[in-house]
Amino acid sequence: MGSPFILLNYKTYIQGTGKGAVDIAKACKTVSEESGIEIAVAPQLPDIYRVASEVELSVFSQHMDGIGAGSFTGHVFGKCIKEAGAFGTLINHSERRLTLAEIEASLKAAKEFGLRAVICTNNVPTTAAAAALVPDYVAIEPPELIGSGIPVSKADPEVVSGSVEAVSKINPDVKVLCGAGISKGEDLRAALDLGSQGVLLASGIVKASDPKAALEDLIRLV
Ligand code: G3P
Repeated sequence: MGSPFILLNYKTYIQGTGKGAVDIAKACKTVSEESGIEIAVAPQLPDIYRVASEVELSVFSQHMDGIGAGSFTGHVFGKCIKEAGAFGTLINHSERRLTLAEIEASLKAAKEFGLRAVICTNNVPTTAAAAALVPDYVAIEPPELIGSGIPVSKADPEVVSGSVEAVSKINPDVKVLCGAGISKGEDLRAALDLGSQGVLLASGIVKASDPKAALEDLIRLV
């Protein structure tokens, strides 16, 4: 397999807010350049423009709505995040759940505006359903392990390998990420050995006292 993809979700952690969003992105860029591994970041929406303007790195939105231009107060418009510098978007995170119809509409809008789409899922059946919509990535994250520090790739390897198998039967072009509790080199190694193409992670890096050192540890067994 090729080089893994690492997507760092800042959530609303204080360490990844405002100037911190830029500082963590700079650490990601340095580690990415040194290692040749693709690393992208998903800061909060108001920080997308700032991060994308100051750091040459792929920036994802944490959410976008399946709406167009017009009367949609408070919604996230794909064209707007694209123009702010976003390269892609998360869709349907466990902390930002959408209905199936909303997921489909959001994905359609992401494709329309040329944004890379990562649909987050919580188990094998929802991963299979998401793959049928043909996003660029599905990211399987069991909610009970999110933020736990217990890596999905070790605590629940079957959900990762089961997702990889289900997606390969539905559409082998859809790539599989896994997430929840991933922070160390052996967690990423185990995720790749289970057939995933990378990880979606947050607290282990964003809340680390030295995010650059934490990233270096994460990739050391790739
Ligand atoms: O989107 C990433 C995520 O939900 C996993 O969070 O803190 O367990 O790495 P964490």
